[in-house]
Amino acid sequence: MSTSMIGRVGTNRHSGAAGGNPFAGRRERSLRLYVMSHVLAAVAWPYANGPRHIGHVSGFGVPSDVFSRYMRMAGHDVLMVSGTDEHGTPIQVQADADGVTPRQLADRYNRVIVEDLHGLGLSYDLFTRTTTRNHYAVVQELFEGLHHNGYIVARTTLGAISPSTGRTLPDRYIEGTCPICGYEGARGDQCDNCGNQLDPEQLVNPRSRINGETPQFVETEHFFLDLPAFAEAIGAWLDRRENWRPNVLKFSRNLLDDLQPRAITRDLEWGVPIPLDGWRDRNDKRIYVWFDAVIGYLSASIEWARRTGDPEAWRQWWSADAQGKDALGYYFMGKDNIVFHSVIWPALLLGYSGEGDKAGDAGSLGRLNLPTEVVSSEYLTMEGKKFSSSRRVVIYVRDFLERYDADALRYFIAAAGPESNDTDFTWAEFVRRNNDELVAGWGNLVNRSVSMAAKNFGEIPAAGELTAEDRAVLEVSRAGFATVGELIGKHRQKAAIGEAMRVVAEANKYLSEQAPWKLKSDEDKPRQATVLHVALQVISDANTLLTPFLPHSAQKVFELLGGEGVHAPMPRIEEVEDLDGGPGYPILTGDYTTGARWESVPITAGTPLAAPKPVFRKLDPSVVEEELARLGNDES
Ligand code: MF3
Ligand code: ZN
Repeated sequence: MSTSMIGRVGTNRHSGAAGGNPFAGRRERSLRLYVMSHVLAAVAWPYANGPRHIGHVSGFGVPSDVFSRYMRMAGHDVLMVSGTDEHGTPIQVQADADGVTPRQLADRYNRVIVEDLHGLGLSYDLFTRTTTRNHYAVVQELFEGLHHNGYIVARTTLGAISPSTGRTLPDRYIEGTCPICGYEGARGDQCDNCGNQLDPEQLVNPRSRINGETPQFVETEHFFLDLPAFAEAIGAWLDRRENWRPNVLKFSRNLLDDLQPRAITRDLEWGVPIPLDGWRDRNDKRIYVWFDAVIGYLSASIEWARRTGDPEAWRQWWSADAQGKDALGYYFMGKDNIVFHSVIWPALLLGYSGEGDKAGDAGSLGRLNLPTEVVSSEYLTMEGKKFSSSRRVVIYVRDFLERYDADALRYFIAAAGPESNDTDFTWAEFVRRNNDELVAGWGNLVNRSVSMAAKNFGEIPAAGELTAEDRAVLEVSRAGFATVGELIGKHRQKAAIGEAMRVVAEANKYLSEQAPWKLKSDEDKPRQATVLHVALQVISDANTLLTPFLPHSAQKVFELLGGEGVHAPMPRIEEVEDLDGGPGYPILTGDYTTGARWESVPITAGTPLAAPKPVFRKLDPSVVEEELARLGNDES
């Protein structure tokens, strides 16, 4: 099935109503031709080395949740997984700085991040972590499978030692100038400025972070992934990709021009042990954090299945042989993650499946699906600057949610986020969009319509005969299901929320023109009832269209219209035991099977209505000054 079909699921549902009674045909679910797919939403794993800021969640968090919510509403079987990324240099460095163990640091920020993502209403089926025993086992299984097929080879490389002590100097203790972009603070494993992977000996002017001395490089053994052996298979896979963002596809293809074997072990004590004889018990060598993290998508799916009591269920999203072969997999991330998802992860999946130049056998998990699409966003900046915790050019998710509503942030990210261009967050623009668009546009439409109907009828009034204007506005909201759905399915969320807000604008225009507040005489009363009925129907539809973006307020609007039960399901935090005897931890999970469908549902005349409470909060313009004053303002 092609990805473009996804956007179209549900678009023919209302065609039976054309020309007839516009309220009829609003519930034709049982009749429609329905294509259900298994859809994996694989969301980048945030590092557990600190609290996350809104730049992070605008790249991987909100877009993946909008997509997953929409796909579930459209009837697909979505598995949305992620977790905290807890190994590697960044965690070890931060732990050293804080005087705690890496595990303690990871425990602390895993919990903070779980709470932040919960606060944003991100509907993970499972948000776990990379320090579970299940994850270790799955990572080692893939490592062994790749090793068995000859794709992982040992090589002698240069490792750093401290000349003054003679001890090995782990990668994290080496810093220097990036040979690619010239950034002076590059680390031995990666340059945070240009995002390129590095080996410590590539650094120009390498120095020890402990005492500034120049490290000495001596020979030591590491394992390498034979990436060139996958160039052809990855190239063929990329050639079959449709609908990727052109930048992402082009960037990925270019990476194939110069594939080198890549070190997948590190001189580090913190990480997944190397599952080979003679290596398993060494405490100075670990699997490279990126090798372990990308495998998280698979291990989290397996953990999810084990927790549901159907331990094989993950295969429906992953197996390239049987149940899962038509499944679709979408990977959400910021652009610095592309190489890991469009080259490294496919290489691991191919090699484990016995594909690639050396062929081989599939491991015990069977042949595994490659991504359908790598959905990468660009960067968000903050008031024109790069986010920086040290320079206080930052707003953490936690602080944001203490002062503002989750949906206000979700709205900003969807409408003005870094979908396919680098984009700037400014407080002025945040306040403007909140006040002019959410409050004055959408909130006000809901508020004035519901309060007028409540005041004049105490319930949803019944509609009489419809005029051409009534039919026209109903048609606008009805048509929104096709357009908005198709755009979300194609990862064009900016355009999608624009279309949903266009329905809102049309409804506002309809109300102004019909002016139901003037239709007060006995003679006009039936017309007032009709106008308000039509307005409430359009509001109900617009609310459904906005539900993937604004789930918290969608639930409220649903209830204002007299709805009962769950309209937009929410994740919950659960404290769980490690399945294999490790320490317990909090997860995010939820039951997302209930909730609204992606369709127009006829409102029911006679449903009691109460005077509404405002759904959105207007922000005082002084917020801008206050927030700007909180930011650090040095120019460096
Ligand atoms: N922790 C990485 C980052 O924040 C993302 C890891 S995504 C995964 O950039 F693929 F490794 F899971
Ligand atoms: Zn660089």
